[in-house]
Amino acid sequence: MENYQTIEHDVIVIGAGGAGLRAAIEASAQGVSTGLVCKSLLGKAHTVMAEGGIAAALANVDSEDGWQTHFCDTMKGGKMLNNFRMAELHAKEAPIRVKELEKWGAVFDRTQDGKILQRAFGGHKYKRLCHVGDRTGLELIRTLQDKGVHQGINVYMECTITKLFKDGDTISGALGYYRNTGEYVLFKAKAIVLATGGVGKSFSVTSNSWEYTGDGHALAYEAGADLIDMEFLQFHPTGMVWPPGVRGLLVTEGVRGEGGILRNSKNERFMFKYLPETTKNDFAATEEEAKEWVEATLTLAKTQARRPPELSTRDNVARAIYTEVKEGRGSPHGGVFLDISYQDKDRIKKKLPSMYHQFKELADVDITAVPMEVGPTAHYIMGGVRVDADTAQSRVKGLFACGEVSGGMHGANRLGGNSLSDLIVFGARAGLHAANYAKELKAKPAINNKDIENEITDLEKPLKAESGINPYDLHKELNQIMGTYVGIFRESSDLSTGLSKLIELQSKLTNLKVTNNKVYNPGWHMCRDLKNMITCSMAITKSAIERKESRGAHSRLDFTQTDDNLGKVNSSIYEENGEMKFKHTPTLKMPDELAKLF
Ligand code: FUM
Repeated sequence: MENYQTIEHDVIVIGAGGAGLRAAIEASAQGVSTGLVCKSLLGKAHTVMAEGGIAAALANVDSEDGWQTHFCDTMKGGKMLNNFRMAELHAKEAPIRVKELEKWGAVFDRTQDGKILQRAFGGHKYKRLCHVGDRTGLELIRTLQDKGVHQGINVYMECTITKLFKDGDTISGALGYYRNTGEYVLFKAKAIVLATGGVGKSFSVTSNSWEYTGDGHALAYEAGADLIDMEFLQFHPTGMVWPPGVRGLLVTEGVRGEGGILRNSKNERFMFKYLPETTKNDFAATEEEAKEWVEATLTLAKTQARRPPELSTRDNVARAIYTEVKEGRGSPHGGVFLDISYQDKDRIKKKLPSMYHQFKELADVDITAVPMEVGPTAHYIMGGVRVDADTAQSRVKGLFACGEVSGGMHGANRLGGNSLSDLIVFGARAGLHAANYAKELKAKPAINNKDIENEITDLEKPLKAESGINPYDLHKELNQIMGTYVGIFRESSDLSTGLSKLIELQSKLTNLKVTNNKVYNPGWHMCRDLKNMITCSMAITKSAIERKESRGAHSRLDFTQTDDNLGKVNSSIYEENGEMKFKHTPTLKMPDELAKLF
């Protein structure tokens, strides 16, 4: 039996992005012993890649804004499949959490009169995104990290959690290993908060960083939680398409929020023709009207002009770009053109400093002089662990989830900027309720030694195998399957083929082989990442097969319309006797006082 270190806390938070940090700050503020475990170094979580802003109805720029409008925009963006209570809490509490960030030292861009500046983003009726140039996620992490470290949270860095343990039906701890040494660590805890982010690494073209392998989704599923709405995978419309080494890297929606224009190779401003009938009246009808809106935006002046069509929701813009490229009107490297170069050079550098440097350094493109080339990139999963809206607790006692790993908040499609606000609203809630839960639990639940032993034996198989498959080859295959069969547009035969191939891939997991020992061995790390990615990919594909309609980010070529009956159900994935099962569960009924806002 391998040795392992044992660490005890009341609450363990897994993941140190915005949600995890905020949860840990809240739990420790409640006076319980709190440990924060992160897969990478503290401060390097994927949240730093969220660029354009954090949505909160502060009404600093558009005084008509309020939580009610933010709530309605979020629900409409999510095609009404959202957990209404989460969307309500989010819209009401985002302003509180943003002001708290400011109090803790976040340095936002400012209006002339010193308020937090807000910019336009897709699907938001008003200018709502509080921002720090195009480095908002970085500032959010810097602020929370500073606060958390000074509050005395215990941090365990470069530590991957591979298994959650239960005592009966109650969470009791987790096993992990340190990535640099390969040494195992057992965390005993009364409550666990998952804040592990998303699943983007199942796709080859993704804006997501290396940590995003669906760990929390898979851990929760294996521990008995439900995963809901996994078919809803958001492709951000604008990722870099060139050079190949950075394909997929995020090009913030802030570019379009600041007036960036999308054109195809025929110089057509194609988004005008992709506005759905239901939202057409919200957008400018002509280039002149769109120009008027941008001119007013530059000076923060009031205007009656409607928003440019580039600010349609992400699902719609991503489909439009994909279609333009597929139909032969793409840019030389397989994207379309995004142009902000018509604006003043210094303004572009001030508003979008990271974009300027990113394109200059990685592609030798000066965005103040020429258009960028951009295309869709796998960005965010709306689906995740089913949680109670108020407490963030899953159906497993003591297991909480917040941020991208949780499901429900964003329905069928997330609005840009609603992720950073989700992280801090539900991070705080998860931390508070995990702490309360831990306080109420008298004795620490037990962990069975046999469960630990089994997990370690399983983890070590690829190290001990005489021969077998290279995990990187399997990862490439996974990327290829998801890109080919479970992409932006889906249909029955593709999805079924994809699922069969995933099942075959899953069977190969027992036949992996890596060389060397456990000391800093990325190949070994990939073995467990792969298992999680395949679990999530199967959940995505199974759910996509069952949703025989098009809604939000889920577009079926064989079912192109929305189906009202399917608008009343969430997709649920759960484990039964070792098998992945699917069922529909009814959405929550919205109370009249919220329903009448629409
Ligand atoms: O485009 C962006 O800056 C991304 C923001 C988000 O996904 O919320």
